[in-house]
Parts: sequence; C-alpha cells; structure tokens
Amino acid sequence: MTETCKRTIAIIGGTGKEGKGLAYRWGKAGHRILIGSRDAVKAMQTVSELRGKPGLHDADLEGYENFAAAESAEIVVLTVPYAVHVDTLDYLRPALQGKILIDVTVPLVPPKVSMVQMPREGSAAMQAQGLLGDGVTVVAAFQNVSFEHLMTDVVPECDILVCGRTREARECVLSLISDAGLVGWDAGYLENSVVVEGLTSVLIGLNRKYGVKSAGIQITGIPRE
Ligand SMILES: NC(=O)c1ccc[n+]([C@@H]2O[C@H](COP(=O)([O-])OP(=O)(O)OC[C@H]3O[C@@H](n4cnc5c(N)ncnc54)[C@H](OP(=O)(O)O)[C@@H]3O)[C@@H](O)[C@H]2O)c1
Repeated sequence: MTETCKRTIAIIGGTGKEGKGLAYRWGKAGHRILIGSRDAVKAMQTVSELRGKPGLHDADLEGYENFAAAESAEIVVLTVPYAVHVDTLDYLRPALQGKILIDVTVPLVPPKVSMVQMPREGSAAMQAQGLLGDGVTVVAAFQNVSFEHLMTDVVPECDILVCGRTREARECVLSLISDAGLVGWDAGYLENSVVVEGLTSVLIGLNRKYGVKSAGIQITGIPRE
C-alpha cells in the first residue's frame, strides 16, 4: 500500500468481536489501526492478540483509550453495543468533528434481537448523525457481516451495503471495504440504513431457525469484478 492510500483508522470498541475482525482485515491491508477501548491497557492487550495472527506480526497497530484513538484518526469506526451507542457518541463528539464516522451499530434491543426495533430517528446511523451534527459525516456499513466472516482470509458470502449523506464519503468507505477483501455496494442515502440495520435482525432469526452462525446477504444482477 502506498503512503497516500494508507489511512489511520480508529476502531472504538475495537476489543470486541466485530471491531477485532475489522482490525484484522485492515491491519493486513496495511492501514494504521488504532484499537480503542474504555481501558487503554485492554486495547494494548488486543493489539498483542492481533499481532499473534498470521500476517499481522508487523502490522501498524496501536491501542488507546477510545477518545484518544478517535482524536488521532482520520476515520473512526464505531463497534459498541447499541445500549451504549448514544453515550459513546456523546463522549466522542469533539474528537469526531471533520471526520467520517463509520457506524456499524445495529439497534438490537434484547431479548427480541430477531425483531426489527428501530429508534424514533429511523436508524442507529440516523440517530448518530442527528447527535453529532453536520461537522461529522456518518456512514452506515458492515451491519450484516458477522465477525466470524471477518476473522478469515476468504471473501465471505456476505456483501456490505454502504449508506451515507455524500457520495465522497460512501466511496471512501467502499474503498476501505475493498481493501478488507470484502464486496461493498453503494446503497445511497443515510436514511436507507433503516433497511440495512433491520436486515441484521432478519439474519439473526435465520441463524436461529436454520442452525447456522453467520447467514449473510448478497446483491445479484450487478456484475462482480
Ligand atoms: N458481532 C457481530 O458479528 C456483529 C455483526 C454486525 C454488526 N455488529 C454490531 O457491532 C457492534 C459491536 O458488536 P460486538 O459483537 O463486537 O460487541 P461486543 O464484542 O459485545 O462489544 C464490543 C465492545 O464494546 C465495548 N463496550 C461494551 N460495553 C460497553 C459500555 N457499557 N460502554 C462502552 N463500551 C462498551 C467493549 O469494549 P471495551 O470494554 O474495551 O471498552 C467491547 O469490547 C454492535 O452494535 C453490533 O450490533 C456486530
């Protein structure tokens, strides 16, 4: 990867399942990854754990407390449970100004996680955009891909739908998806994230019904490279 393509990406909640999976793929692709956690020591432990994975020994990985990670990054990825989505965004708001926030959050409300339950703003990503204001560009992505697919080196049978207010921001995220060895599609308006986030509850229901771990979605009718 050339220095101009290399991005500094903070993953908030990067010690968790989905965040670690994204760090694995982007770390291998040569991006600089700042793992964020409420606890910097835990973040550094996750960095050590990731360094033990094949191909990541010399990767550009660092661990920080969440705010410090967000402050030092160009692009910030949010991978925390929905129950702490608003509080985490409130806390990070000053560090996010002028940046792209990739919101991976699915508004799951236990115990009925296989039932679509959207917040009154429309979706978790819409809620984030409203809370953060125009200084931050929220892009919704990765909600449908299970962490089990991320911690592998194969192209999963699950595409990534990308929603956001500007084409530039969506294209930036689509290029990161491609770097991660995944297939992404421009799914248009941020408002469309209601469908994408809702699909995750459907996929969780399918996992249960058919006894699998990581059902996914694929777009048909468009030629793949
Ligand atoms: N798991 C999947 O396959 C998957 C797939 C698609 C989308 N998602 C979405 O991605 C997000 C993360 O999912 P996950 O499975 O990775 O979650 P997770 O492993 O349960 O948690 C992720 C991280 O969130 C942080 N966290 C937990 N409780 C918190 C609190 N009270 N305040 C602040 N931070 C807290 C923790 O980091 P620290 O303790 O280090 O701070 C934790 O490691 C969710 O919104 C989920 O819906 C997950």
